Amino acid sequence: MDLQRLKAQIDNSPAFIIDTNELQKNFAQLQTLRQQSGCKVLYSIKALPFSRVLETTKPWVDGFAVSSLFEAKLASECLGINGSLHLTTPGLRPDEWNELLPLLSHISFNSLSQYQRFLAIGINSTSIGLRVNPKLSFLNDNRFDPCRPHSKLGVDIDELWQTNDLKNLKGLQLHTVFSSTDYTPIIKTVEKLRQYFGKQLAQLDWLNLGGGYLFKDIKDHQPYIHLISALKQDYNLDVFIEPGKALVNNVAYLVTTVLDCFISDGKTIAILDTSVNHHPEVFEYQRKLDLHEHQANAKYPIILAGSSCLAGDIFGEYQFTQPLNIGDKLIFKNVGAYSLIKANRFNGYNLPTIYSYQNQELHKEKQYQYTDYRQQWSPD
Ligand SMILES: Cc1ncc(COP(=O)(O)O)c(C=O)c1O
Repeated sequence: MDLQRLKAQIDNSPAFIIDTNELQKNFAQLQTLRQQSGCKVLYSIKALPFSRVLETTKPWVDGFAVSSLFEAKLASECLGINGSLHLTTPGLRPDEWNELLPLLSHISFNSLSQYQRFLAIGINSTSIGLRVNPKLSFLNDNRFDPCRPHSKLGVDIDELWQTNDLKNLKGLQLHTVFSSTDYTPIIKTVEKLRQYFGKQLAQLDWLNLGGGYLFKDIKDHQPYIHLISALKQDYNLDVFIEPGKALVNNVAYLVTTVLDCFISDGKTIAILDTSVNHHPEVFEYQRKLDLHEHQANAKYPIILAGSSCLAGDIFGEYQFTQPLNIGDKLIFKNVGAYSLIKANRFNGYNLPTIYSYQNQELHKEKQYQYTDYRQQWSPD
């Protein structure tokens, strides 16, 4: 994508641009992995559930992975009767069960308590599994680690092993890493699963290996391909994967405009017409976004700050080849995953206008208005 040209074309800032050609490329790449390993691919829609993304994605996947009734409804409206719909969540609600269950092809209960209670309410033809916590941590930050001590995510593998009973289950689900660029965690995790359950795994119809791997940033896919093919061969089951970020992160851009510039304690601050409201993970995880205009060692260091009242609403210090001026546009890259879906209107600032970009053409998809803000905060 020609980002300079893009800036000139955007008439609403801040703007969130989804490059659907790039999205298709990501899926095409995953296609090779899918064909060589025989795995089934679900898109985990929580990363970016924009309907244009789901529609673009649909021909390339075996279904969608969801975590709530609303996600399930959206995914199911898009899929129709084609494809699998998998759900796992710690937050299953009895009052939604009758509406939710018919939408799902597969469910992985998050705890034995949840499993027993919902089985008692009744189950239809949905294939029943459990999310397992294999208790192998590969992350040094507890906030992202599903295998942290006292984890709320999945049935403890030791507890599952002690009940010694996979026979009422059709599947198991794992999801244990965050933005991994190395297949070692899943290889070690599957090894542990094999040690614990061995041939019992053949009683299952499916194994869902979750998401969390950034396929584009991994050079050698052979270990993953081998892992999946061996599972299929040894236990004759379907192997699902459910990536989110890997498929959508690099396909989106956030275009923003400089609203003000001033010096604070000797450093230049540029206030943008976006904020951490539009990418809360910048604040939550102190993540520094990729900026198109940044050049390492360039002469002008400038702190980019958001327009909200929060003192820590800061994107960080970037280097520029020339000073920024009010009205300049900047582009954050690789912002597709967990940005728009977490965005909010704190301080009354509007959400970004959403555009799609396909075959060199920009289409305005959605522009929020004051009425959307008012509606959110008014009684029915
Ligand atoms: C159960 C489950 N599956 C899949 C995903 C998608 O992970 P990612 O976007 O890191 O690939 C998540 C993310 O939180 C998850 O919790």
